[in-house]
Amino acid sequence: MKSYNIAVIGGDGTGPEVVREALKVLEAASKKFGIKLNLQNYDLGGERFLKTGEVLPDSMVQELRKFPAILLGAIGHPDVKPGVLEKGLLLRLRFELEQYINLRPVKLYDERFCPLKDKKAEDIDFVVVRENNEGLYTGAGGFVFKGTPNEIAVQESINTRRGVERCLRFAFEFTRKRNKEKKLTLCGKTNVLTFAFDLWERAFHEIGQKDFSDIKRDYAHVDATTMWMVKNPEWFDVVVTDNMFGDIITDLGAMVQGGMGIAAGGNINPQGTSMFEPIGGSAPKYTGQGVINPLAAICAGQMMLDFLGEQQAAAAIEAAVIKTVREKIKSLAAGKMGFNTSQVGDLVANAI
Ligand code: IPM
Ligand code: MN
Repeated sequence: MKSYNIAVIGGDGTGPEVVREALKVLEAASKKFGIKLNLQNYDLGGERFLKTGEVLPDSMVQELRKFPAILLGAIGHPDVKPGVLEKGLLLRLRFELEQYINLRPVKLYDERFCPLKDKKAEDIDFVVVRENNEGLYTGAGGFVFKGTPNEIAVQESINTRRGVERCLRFAFEFTRKRNKEKKLTLCGKTNVLTFAFDLWERAFHEIGQKDFSDIKRDYAHVDATTMWMVKNPEWFDVVVTDNMFGDIITDLGAMVQGGMGIAAGGNINPQGTSMFEPIGGSAPKYTGQGVINPLAAICAGQMMLDFLGEQQAAAAIEAAVIKTVREKIKSLAAGKMGFNTSQVGDLVANAI
């Protein structure tokens, strides 16, 4: 029997509620496919910070390195100043564990849940590969003359050849493996960000020409990308982009696939510890009510199994999610599903 050590961080708000359902579904899939998951819980998040002043102890980062995967619920607490947990916990883990890819599939499971008119499930099925360690999110920059009328705030976008290249290579490989249209779209802003996206564009074509001549290369400015995602989402197969553009377009992606209730992502270090999470936040106003949609967390669990090499078990979870979405659920929105959080977990687990 194959066994995997998994770190579990429920985190803030509705995080623990949705992770509970993801674990329920993972348990069902594990039983069926003869897998064993050894779970270890880590108590991190806003409550811990408010009690102890600790966001993420260094020793814990070292411990987490020993796991192939982490399942994360949500980070963000209404009583903690914005930025403290996001930067100190979520971004710190992404950076220190070198999870340099943020993989975000945008897949519509049922056209009833798409806000776009006349789009069918087969029209919305693409994957965004977001660079996850660089760009505007590294925290490089600073203030000059802070608090005076002459104040200057600089936030620098960091783009290294190494960082860009490893992201592009992952995206090309992923497009090849996905084997759908074998088309990779670089989403950038070459007409204005003439340094950063010049590097991205040069590397994109160099690498593509040399090592991935079977993959079609396409380019779209980020503003045009948001337009096409609404008007012609069927044009996309795999999209690769920098950290901030990826952050923005994947929220749009989440909406066209039916909302935050279903959108999942993986922070990937192909050689180290990866971390899987629903991409919606901690939803403080729904916390503890049993109304939040756990499907995004369940899909994060599915991505985790797929990443661990358990393709069959992952496919079974996806099929069970699709069945639940198509045949049972009234809405993907919190409180409107026609079921409570735990019942949705049961529906998926039973469908496995
Ligand atoms: C996301 C979130 C994070 C990000 C925040 C919470 C730091 O919006 O995962 O997309 O910007 O990456
Ligand atoms: Mn985001």
